[in-house]
Amino acid sequence: MNLNKTDIICRLTDSSRQEELFKTADKIRHDYVGDEVHLRGLIEFSNICRNNCLYCGIRRGNKQVNRYRLTEDELIETARRGALLGFKTIVMQSGEDMYYTVPRLCRIIESIKKFDVAVTLSIGERPYAEYKAFREAGADRYLMRIETTDKALYHKLDPEMSWQYRYECLLALKELGYELGSGIMVGLPEQSFESIAADLLFLKKLDVDMAGIGPFIPHSQTPLKDAAGGTLELALRTMALMRILLPDINIPATTAMESLHPQGRVRALQSGANVIMSNITESEYRKLYELYPDKVCLEDTPVHCRSCIDTKIMSIGRTIGQGYGSRIRYSEKIK
Ligand code: 5AD
Repeated sequence: MNLNKTDIICRLTDSSRQEELFKTADKIRHDYVGDEVHLRGLIEFSNICRNNCLYCGIRRGNKQVNRYRLTEDELIETARRGALLGFKTIVMQSGEDMYYTVPRLCRIIESIKKFDVAVTLSIGERPYAEYKAFREAGADRYLMRIETTDKALYHKLDPEMSWQYRYECLLALKELGYELGSGIMVGLPEQSFESIAADLLFLKKLDVDMAGIGPFIPHSQTPLKDAAGGTLELALRTMALMRILLPDINIPATTAMESLHPQGRVRALQSGANVIMSNITESEYRKLYELYPDKVCLEDTPVHCRSCIDTKIMSIGRTIGQGYGSRIRYSEKIK
């Protein structure tokens, strides 16, 4: 559906009509992508990061973090267990940790692909040739949020990084045939409603296959510790509008939403979302991957998370996705 910037700002700011917005998004979700909720098994395989984003708990400058990285074997074993638990997609996420070189990552991707799963990478900015090598090794999808399209804000949040370069990375990934996921945080300091509306239109124009939208949650060990942060409500309204703008894409109920409210992900599933990323990292490492505080399920095992999520999904009359859960374009579906 086409909404212009003014319409979007109007719906973003109008909390009195948000239930109506959530209902509309829920209906569009039902009509375009159905009642299945696709589960992804998320492995947070390294919290070592070369970047220093002001908002992020694992930023290079946070000296209080105990840093870890999984060995090749540990990572493959975690993925194997995830596949045994029934996950049809394995998401490999980490800080920008250059220890994972092309040969190392390609070996890992090739091993994990043998478990009959889709492989999603979420490892940040890399040169084109590396993206190409990962794709050739079998990686299917790539997640990298643009975070904000307000370039001045982006550069304030990380003076060492380049918005333009990140955008070019997204274009490269698309060109290489990855299913592309991107997204934003809402509630960043100085972020305006207008800028969130522009973000949504940017994601529509880029025609992303997945869009992750989460509230910014200030972390006490970062320079933004005293910032206000985003609310669940605003994140849900933003996500619902994303569903209206791009009806047939995959939209996760994000973990950051759950961190703000115990029913955050269920509310998201009822307001346009159709994907859940379940943490399958072993507990000893989970606590150390603290992008923001109060991340949920830190003490839980992969098996526990899986059954807890299944219960939540079924309690609202939805089903668990049985396939890989790729985006199926509506134009293809109705042929
Ligand atoms: N609050 C919420 N989300 C965060 N992320 C990083 N730091 C925070 C935070 N403090 C998000 C970013 C990143 C994703 C992996 O986690 O959007 O892309």
